[in-house]
Amino acid sequence: MSSNVIGAGILGMGSALPERVLTNSDLEKMVDTSDEWIIKRTGISERRILDKGEPVFQLGVKAAERAISDAGIASEDIDLIIAATTSPDYVFPQMSCMIQSKIGAKKAAAFDMNVACSGFVYAMSVAKQFIASGTYKYILIIGCEGLSKLTDWEDRNTCVLFGDGAGAAVMGPVENGYGVLSTYLGADGEMGNVLTLPFCCFTQADLDVRPNKNKNVIWMDGGEVFKFAVKIMEQASLRAIEDANLKVEDIDFVFPHQANIRIIDGALKRLGFTHEKMHLVIQKYGNISSASIPVAMDEALREGKIKKGDNIVLVGFGGGLTWASAVIKWSK
Ligand code: ACO
Repeated sequence: MSSNVIGAGILGMGSALPERVLTNSDLEKMVDTSDEWIIKRTGISERRILDKGEPVFQLGVKAAERAISDAGIASEDIDLIIAATTSPDYVFPQMSCMIQSKIGAKKAAAFDMNVACSGFVYAMSVAKQFIASGTYKYILIIGCEGLSKLTDWEDRNTCVLFGDGAGAAVMGPVENGYGVLSTYLGADGEMGNVLTLPFCCFTQADLDVRPNKNKNVIWMDGGEVFKFAVKIMEQASLRAIEDANLKVEDIDFVFPHQANIRIIDGALKRLGFTHEKMHLVIQKYGNISSASIPVAMDEALREGKIKKGDNIVLVGFGGGLTWASAVIKWSK
Protein backbone atom coordinates (compact mmCIF):
# COMPACT_ATOMS: atom_id res chain seq x y z
CA MET A 1 0.00 0.00 0.00
CA SER A 2 1.56 3.35 -1.00
CA SER A 3 2.08 5.84 1.83
CA ASN A 4 -0.54 8.36 0.60
CA VAL A 5 -3.35 5.76 0.49
CA ILE A 6 -5.19 5.36 3.79
CA GLY A 7 -6.03 1.81 4.90
CA ALA A 8 -9.80 1.28 5.31
CA GLY A 9 -11.34 -1.30 7.60
CA ILE A 10 -14.26 -2.13 9.85
CA LEU A 11 -14.28 -0.32 13.21
CA GLY A 12 -17.57 -1.66 14.59
CA MET A 13 -20.50 -3.91 13.68
CA GLY A 14 -24.12 -4.45 14.70
CA SER A 15 -27.17 -6.41 13.57
CA ALA A 16 -30.92 -6.63 14.17
CA LEU A 17 -33.58 -9.24 13.43
CA PRO A 18 -37.36 -9.09 13.81
CA GLU A 19 -38.85 -10.81 16.87
CA ARG A 20 -41.35 -12.93 14.95
CA VAL A 21 -40.20 -16.45 14.01
CA LEU A 22 -41.75 -18.31 11.06
CA THR A 23 -40.89 -22.00 11.20
CA ASN A 24 -41.01 -24.65 8.50
CA SER A 25 -44.01 -26.19 10.22
CA ASP A 26 -45.79 -22.81 10.00
CA LEU A 27 -45.11 -22.89 6.25
CA GLU A 28 -46.51 -26.43 6.00
CA LYS A 29 -49.87 -24.88 6.90
CA MET A 30 -49.56 -22.20 4.19
CA VAL A 31 -48.28 -24.07 1.09
CA ASP A 32 -47.71 -27.65 -0.07
CA THR A 33 -44.29 -28.18 1.50
CA SER A 34 -42.62 -30.05 4.36
CA ASP A 35 -40.03 -29.35 7.03
CA GLU A 36 -38.02 -32.27 5.65
CA TRP A 37 -37.98 -30.90 2.05
CA ILE A 38 -36.98 -27.40 3.13
CA ILE A 39 -34.15 -28.55 5.41
CA LYS A 40 -32.81 -31.08 2.91
CA ARG A 41 -32.96 -28.79 -0.15
CA THR A 42 -31.98 -25.47 1.50
CA GLY A 43 -30.68 -25.94 5.07
CA ILE A 44 -33.32 -23.53 6.43
CA SER A 45 -35.36 -24.40 9.57
CA GLU A 46 -36.88 -21.02 10.37
CA ARG A 47 -36.68 -17.35 9.47
CA ARG A 48 -37.47 -13.98 11.13
CA ILE A 49 -40.34 -11.97 9.65
CA LEU A 50 -41.46 -8.38 10.19
CA ASP A 51 -45.06 -7.87 11.26
CA LYS A 52 -47.39 -6.24 8.75
CA GLY A 53 -47.09 -2.66 10.00
CA GLU A 54 -43.41 -2.89 11.00
CA PRO A 55 -41.16 -0.85 8.68
CA VAL A 56 -37.98 -2.37 7.25
CA PHE A 57 -35.72 0.64 7.96
CA GLN A 58 -36.19 0.27 11.74
CA LEU A 59 -34.04 -2.86 11.57
CA GLY A 60 -31.36 -0.76 9.88
CA VAL A 61 -31.61 1.87 12.62
CA LYS A 62 -31.05 -0.74 15.36
CA ALA A 63 -28.14 -2.38 13.51
CA ALA A 64 -26.58 1.05 12.83
CA GLU A 65 -26.87 2.16 16.46
CA ARG A 66 -25.13 -1.02 17.60
CA ALA A 67 -22.35 -0.65 15.00
CA ILE A 68 -21.74 3.00 15.98
CA SER A 69 -21.55 2.10 19.67
CA ASP A 70 -19.21 -0.84 18.88
CA ALA A 71 -16.96 1.52 16.88
CA GLY A 72 -16.81 3.93 19.83
CA ILE A 73 -17.74 6.99 17.76
CA ALA A 74 -20.77 9.31 17.79
CA SER A 75 -23.47 9.45 15.10
CA GLU A 76 -22.44 13.04 14.45
CA ASP A 77 -18.99 11.80 13.36
CA ILE A 78 -20.36 9.87 10.37
CA ASP A 79 -19.57 11.40 6.98
CA LEU A 80 -21.55 9.09 4.70
CA ILE A 81 -24.27 6.44 4.98
CA ILE A 82 -24.74 3.79 2.30
CA ALA A 83 -27.82 1.57 2.68
CA ALA A 84 -27.62 -1.57 0.56
CA THR A 85 -31.21 -2.70 0.11
CA THR A 86 -33.49 -4.33 -2.40
CA SER A 87 -36.58 -3.91 -0.22
CA PRO A 88 -36.78 -0.25 0.93
CA ASP A 89 -39.98 0.99 2.56
CA TYR A 90 -40.00 3.92 0.12
CA VAL A 91 -38.23 4.64 -3.15
CA PHE A 92 -37.80 8.09 -1.61
CA PRO A 93 -37.11 9.17 1.00
CA GLN A 94 -34.33 6.65 0.65
CA MET A 95 -33.69 4.15 3.44
CA SER A 96 -30.26 5.74 4.05
CA CYS A 97 -31.94 9.13 4.66
CA MET A 98 -34.56 7.61 6.97
CA ILE A 99 -31.78 5.98 8.99
CA GLN A 100 -29.72 9.20 8.98
CA SER A 101 -32.64 11.10 10.50
CA LYS A 102 -33.35 8.49 13.22
CA ILE A 103 -29.74 8.11 14.37
CA GLY A 104 -29.02 11.87 14.18
CA ALA A 105 -26.08 11.60 11.79
CA LYS A 106 -26.61 15.22 10.83
CA LYS A 107 -23.48 15.84 8.76
CA ALA A 108 -23.66 12.57 6.79
CA ALA A 109 -24.37 12.39 3.08
CA ALA A 110 -26.61 9.40 2.31
CA PHE A 111 -27.60 7.19 -0.57
CA ASP A 112 -29.13 3.77 -1.24
CA MET A 113 -27.57 1.07 -3.34
CA ASN A 114 -29.56 -1.76 -4.87
CA VAL A 115 -27.29 -4.64 -5.81
CA ALA A 116 -29.60 -7.29 -4.31
CA CYS A 117 -27.73 -9.85 -2.21
CA SER A 118 -24.32 -8.54 -3.36
CA GLY A 119 -25.14 -5.12 -1.88
CA PHE A 120 -23.16 -5.17 1.36
CA VAL A 121 -19.86 -6.05 -0.32
CA TYR A 122 -20.51 -3.50 -3.11
CA ALA A 123 -21.15 -0.85 -0.41
CA MET A 124 -17.94 -1.82 1.37
CA SER A 125 -16.00 -1.43 -1.86
CA VAL A 126 -17.39 2.09 -2.44
CA ALA A 127 -16.77 3.09 1.19
CA LYS A 128 -13.19 1.87 0.95
CA GLN A 129 -12.48 4.24 -1.99
CA PHE A 130 -13.78 7.29 -0.12
CA ILE A 131 -11.71 6.46 2.98
CA ALA A 132 -8.57 5.52 1.04
CA SER A 133 -8.66 8.83 -0.86
CA GLY A 134 -9.12 10.82 2.35
CA THR A 135 -12.51 12.19 1.19
CA TYR A 136 -14.37 10.78 4.21
CA LYS A 137 -13.25 9.38 7.56
CA TYR A 138 -16.23 7.44 8.94
CA ILE A 139 -18.74 5.66 6.70
CA LEU A 140 -21.73 3.64 7.88
CA ILE A 141 -22.70 0.80 5.54
CA ILE A 142 -25.89 -1.15 6.16
CA GLY A 143 -27.46 -4.21 4.56
CA CYS A 144 -31.14 -3.94 5.45
CA GLU A 145 -33.91 -6.13 4.04
CA GLY A 146 -37.58 -6.97 4.49
CA LEU A 147 -37.96 -9.60 1.79
CA SER A 148 -41.05 -11.01 3.50
CA LYS A 149 -42.87 -7.96 2.12
CA LEU A 150 -41.90 -8.90 -1.45
CA THR A 151 -42.56 -12.63 -1.17
CA ASP A 152 -45.43 -14.46 -2.83
CA TRP A 153 -46.72 -16.43 0.16
CA GLU A 154 -48.63 -18.75 -2.19
CA ASP A 155 -45.52 -19.76 -4.19
CA ARG A 156 -43.75 -22.65 -2.46
CA ASN A 157 -40.78 -22.29 -4.81
CA THR A 158 -39.79 -18.99 -3.20
CA CYS A 159 -41.69 -18.37 0.05
CA VAL A 160 -39.67 -20.92 2.04
CA LEU A 161 -36.38 -19.20 1.24
CA PHE A 162 -36.44 -15.61 2.49
CA GLY A 163 -36.34 -13.72 5.78
CA ASP A 164 -35.84 -10.19 7.12
CA GLY A 165 -32.86 -8.63 8.92
CA ALA A 166 -30.18 -5.94 8.97
CA GLY A 167 -26.44 -5.80 9.55
CA ALA A 168 -24.27 -2.68 9.72
CA ALA A 169 -20.59 -1.74 9.82
CA VAL A 170 -18.78 1.50 10.60
CA MET A 171 -15.79 1.77 8.30
CA GLY A 172 -12.85 4.08 8.85
CA PRO A 173 -9.06 4.41 8.74
CA VAL A 174 -7.01 1.47 10.08
CA GLU A 175 -3.33 0.64 10.54
CA ASN A 176 -1.42 0.16 7.28
CA GLY A 177 -1.54 -3.44 6.04
CA TYR A 178 -4.89 -4.09 7.77
CA GLY A 179 -8.49 -3.62 6.65
CA VAL A 180 -9.87 -4.22 3.16
CA LEU A 181 -7.02 -5.71 1.09
CA SER A 182 -9.00 -6.33 -2.11
CA THR A 183 -12.48 -6.13 -3.60
CA TYR A 184 -13.82 -7.68 -6.77
CA LEU A 185 -17.21 -6.67 -8.22
CA GLY A 186 -19.06 -8.05 -11.22
CA ALA A 187 -22.37 -8.20 -13.08
CA ASP A 188 -23.98 -10.16 -15.91
CA GLY A 189 -27.13 -8.32 -17.01
CA GLU A 190 -27.71 -10.92 -19.73
CA MET A 191 -28.77 -13.33 -16.98
CA GLY A 192 -31.01 -10.81 -15.21
CA ASN A 193 -34.23 -12.57 -16.23
CA VAL A 194 -33.60 -15.62 -14.00
CA LEU A 195 -34.28 -13.62 -10.82
CA THR A 196 -36.76 -10.75 -11.06
CA LEU A 197 -38.82 -8.35 -8.99
CA PRO A 198 -40.81 -5.94 -11.21
CA PHE A 199 -41.62 -2.54 -9.79
CA CYS A 200 -43.36 -0.10 -12.17
CA CYS A 201 -43.76 -2.27 -15.23
CA PHE A 202 -44.40 -5.93 -15.98
CA THR A 203 -43.22 -7.50 -19.23
CA GLN A 204 -45.19 -10.36 -20.81
CA ALA A 205 -42.39 -12.68 -19.61
CA ASP A 206 -43.01 -11.55 -16.00
CA LEU A 207 -46.75 -12.19 -16.34
CA ASP A 208 -46.12 -15.61 -17.89
CA VAL A 209 -43.90 -16.97 -15.13
CA ARG A 210 -45.55 -15.58 -11.98
CA PRO A 211 -48.21 -17.84 -10.50
CA ASN A 212 -49.94 -14.70 -9.24
CA LYS A 213 -49.43 -12.70 -12.43
CA ASN A 214 -48.82 -9.01 -11.75
CA LYS A 215 -48.00 -9.06 -8.06
CA ASN A 216 -44.79 -7.22 -7.11
CA VAL A 217 -43.11 -10.34 -5.78
CA ILE A 218 -39.80 -12.13 -6.18
CA TRP A 219 -39.68 -14.78 -8.89
CA MET A 220 -36.74 -16.92 -9.87
CA ASP A 221 -35.61 -19.83 -11.94
CA GLY A 222 -34.07 -21.54 -8.89
CA GLY A 223 -32.02 -24.06 -10.86
CA GLU A 224 -30.37 -21.39 -13.04
CA VAL A 225 -29.61 -19.17 -10.03
CA PHE A 226 -28.19 -22.19 -8.23
CA LYS A 227 -25.79 -23.12 -11.07
CA PHE A 228 -24.64 -19.50 -11.47
CA ALA A 229 -24.13 -19.06 -7.73
CA VAL A 230 -21.97 -22.17 -7.28
CA LYS A 231 -19.71 -21.16 -10.16
CA ILE A 232 -19.37 -17.47 -9.30
CA MET A 233 -18.84 -17.88 -5.55
CA GLU A 234 -15.79 -20.05 -6.18
CA GLN A 235 -14.40 -17.80 -8.95
CA ALA A 236 -15.01 -14.55 -7.06
CA SER A 237 -13.41 -15.90 -3.86
CA LEU A 238 -10.29 -16.95 -5.75
CA ARG A 239 -10.07 -13.59 -7.55
CA ALA A 240 -10.24 -11.54 -4.33
CA ILE A 241 -7.69 -13.81 -2.63
CA GLU A 242 -5.31 -13.47 -5.58
CA ASP A 243 -5.77 -9.67 -5.71
CA ALA A 244 -4.87 -9.53 -2.01
CA ASN A 245 -1.63 -11.39 -2.81
CA LEU A 246 -2.71 -14.29 -0.61
CA LYS A 247 -3.26 -18.01 -1.11
CA VAL A 248 -6.33 -20.05 -0.23
CA GLU A 249 -4.34 -21.58 2.67
CA ASP A 250 -3.85 -18.09 4.15
CA ILE A 251 -7.61 -17.59 4.67
CA ASP A 252 -8.83 -18.01 8.27
CA PHE A 253 -12.55 -17.35 7.89
CA VAL A 254 -15.16 -17.01 5.13
CA PHE A 255 -18.48 -15.17 5.10
CA PRO A 256 -20.46 -16.32 2.05
CA HIS A 257 -23.88 -14.98 1.14
CA GLN A 258 -26.24 -17.54 2.68
CA ALA A 259 -29.02 -18.40 0.20
CA ASN A 260 -28.90 -22.20 0.30
CA ILE A 261 -26.52 -24.45 2.24
CA ARG A 262 -26.04 -26.59 -0.87
CA ILE A 263 -24.77 -23.54 -2.80
CA ILE A 264 -22.26 -22.77 -0.03
CA ASP A 265 -21.05 -26.35 0.07
CA GLY A 266 -20.95 -26.72 -3.72
CA ALA A 267 -18.96 -23.52 -4.17
CA LEU A 268 -16.62 -23.41 -1.22
CA LYS A 269 -15.82 -26.92 0.02
CA ARG A 270 -13.57 -27.42 -3.00
CA LEU A 271 -11.46 -24.50 -1.75
CA GLY A 272 -11.13 -26.21 1.63
CA PHE A 273 -13.57 -23.75 3.22
CA THR A 274 -15.45 -26.13 5.49
CA HIS A 275 -18.21 -25.13 7.93
CA GLU A 276 -15.56 -24.71 10.68
CA LYS A 277 -14.29 -21.67 8.75
CA MET A 278 -17.77 -20.11 8.53
CA HIS A 279 -20.47 -18.78 10.81
CA LEU A 280 -23.72 -20.16 9.43
CA VAL A 281 -27.01 -18.37 10.15
CA ILE A 282 -29.09 -19.64 7.22
CA GLN A 283 -30.72 -22.34 9.38
CA LYS A 284 -32.31 -19.72 11.65
CA TYR A 285 -32.67 -16.64 9.38
CA GLY A 286 -33.08 -17.98 5.79
CA ASN A 287 -31.85 -15.81 2.92
CA ILE A 288 -31.74 -12.21 4.17
CA SER A 289 -30.15 -10.85 1.00
CA SER A 290 -27.76 -7.93 1.58
CA ALA A 291 -28.01 -8.43 5.36
CA SER A 292 -26.79 -12.02 5.28
CA ILE A 293 -23.03 -11.33 5.33
CA PRO A 294 -22.99 -8.53 7.98
CA VAL A 295 -25.43 -10.36 10.28
CA ALA A 296 -23.20 -13.47 10.20
CA MET A 297 -20.07 -11.31 10.72
CA ASP A 298 -21.57 -9.50 13.70
CA GLU A 299 -22.57 -12.78 15.38
CA ALA A 300 -19.18 -14.37 14.70
CA LEU A 301 -17.40 -11.36 16.19
CA ARG A 302 -19.56 -11.40 19.29
CA GLU A 303 -18.78 -15.11 19.72
CA GLY A 304 -15.03 -14.35 19.52
CA LYS A 305 -14.48 -16.31 16.32
CA ILE A 306 -12.42 -13.56 14.63
CA LYS A 307 -9.14 -12.14 15.96
CA LYS A 308 -6.77 -9.38 14.92
CA GLY A 309 -4.72 -10.35 11.86
CA ASP A 310 -7.17 -12.95 10.55
CA ASN A 311 -7.60 -12.98 6.77
CA ILE A 312 -11.31 -13.03 5.97
CA VAL A 313 -13.13 -13.57 2.67
CA LEU A 314 -16.58 -12.09 2.01
CA VAL A 315 -18.36 -13.39 -1.10
CA GLY A 316 -21.87 -12.79 -2.37
CA PHE A 317 -24.08 -13.09 -5.45
CA GLY A 318 -27.56 -11.86 -6.24
CA GLY A 319 -30.14 -10.35 -8.57
CA GLY A 320 -28.86 -8.50 -11.61
CA LEU A 321 -27.18 -10.93 -11.76
CA THR A 322 -24.32 -9.56 -9.70
CA TRP A 323 -21.47 -10.77 -7.52
CA ALA A 324 -18.92 -9.28 -5.15
CA SER A 325 -16.03 -10.49 -3.02
CA ALA A 326 -13.49 -8.96 -0.68
CA VAL A 327 -10.56 -9.91 1.51
CA ILE A 328 -10.13 -8.16 4.86
CA LYS A 329 -7.22 -8.44 7.29
CA TRP A 330 -9.04 -7.96 10.59
CA SER A 331 -7.75 -4.91 12.41
CA LYS A 332 -9.38 -4.96 15.87
N1 ACO B 1 -41.62 -27.76 -0.93
C1 ACO B 1 -41.76 -28.93 -1.57
N2 ACO B 1 -41.45 -29.10 -2.85
C2 ACO B 1 -40.95 -28.05 -3.52
C3 ACO B 1 -40.75 -26.81 -2.92
C4 ACO B 1 -41.11 -26.68 -1.57
N3 ACO B 1 -40.97 -25.53 -0.90
N4 ACO B 1 -40.23 -25.96 -3.83
C5 ACO B 1 -40.09 -26.64 -4.97
N5 ACO B 1 -40.54 -27.91 -4.79
C6 ACO B 1 -40.61 -28.99 -5.76
C7 ACO B 1 -40.62 -28.50 -7.17
O1 ACO B 1 -41.94 -28.14 -7.55
C8 ACO B 1 -40.12 -29.70 -7.93
O2 ACO B 1 -41.17 -30.61 -8.07
P1 ACO B 1 -41.34 -31.46 -9.45
O3 ACO B 1 -40.10 -32.28 -9.51
O4 ACO B 1 -42.58 -32.23 -9.19
O5 ACO B 1 -41.43 -30.45 -10.52
C9 ACO B 1 -39.12 -30.33 -6.94
O6 ACO B 1 -39.42 -29.77 -5.67
C10 ACO B 1 -37.67 -30.00 -7.26
O7 ACO B 1 -37.59 -28.62 -7.56
P2 ACO B 1 -36.23 -27.95 -7.88
O8 ACO B 1 -36.46 -26.52 -8.25
O9 ACO B 1 -35.45 -28.81 -8.84
O10 ACO B 1 -35.51 -28.02 -6.46
P3 ACO B 1 -34.05 -27.64 -6.13
O11 ACO B 1 -33.39 -28.77 -5.50
O12 ACO B 1 -33.35 -26.96 -7.28
O13 ACO B 1 -34.25 -26.52 -5.00
C11 ACO B 1 -34.22 -24.15 -4.71
C12 ACO B 1 -34.96 -25.33 -5.31
C13 ACO B 1 -34.13 -24.32 -3.22
C14 ACO B 1 -35.00 -22.87 -5.04
C15 ACO B 1 -32.79 -24.08 -5.31
O14 ACO B 1 -32.86 -24.17 -6.70
C16 ACO B 1 -32.06 -22.81 -4.94
O15 ACO B 1 -31.67 -22.62 -3.80
N6 ACO B 1 -31.80 -21.95 -5.93
C17 ACO B 1 -31.07 -20.70 -5.68
C18 ACO B 1 -31.90 -19.77 -4.89
C19 ACO B 1 -31.16 -18.50 -4.63
O16 ACO B 1 -30.01 -18.50 -4.29
N7 ACO B 1 -31.81 -17.39 -4.85
C20 ACO B 1 -31.18 -16.15 -4.63
C21 ACO B 1 -32.19 -15.14 -4.44
S1 ACO B 1 -31.36 -13.78 -3.91
C22 ACO B 1 -32.11 -12.34 -4.21
O17 ACO B 1 -31.49 -11.54 -4.86
C23 ACO B 1 -33.44 -12.04 -3.62
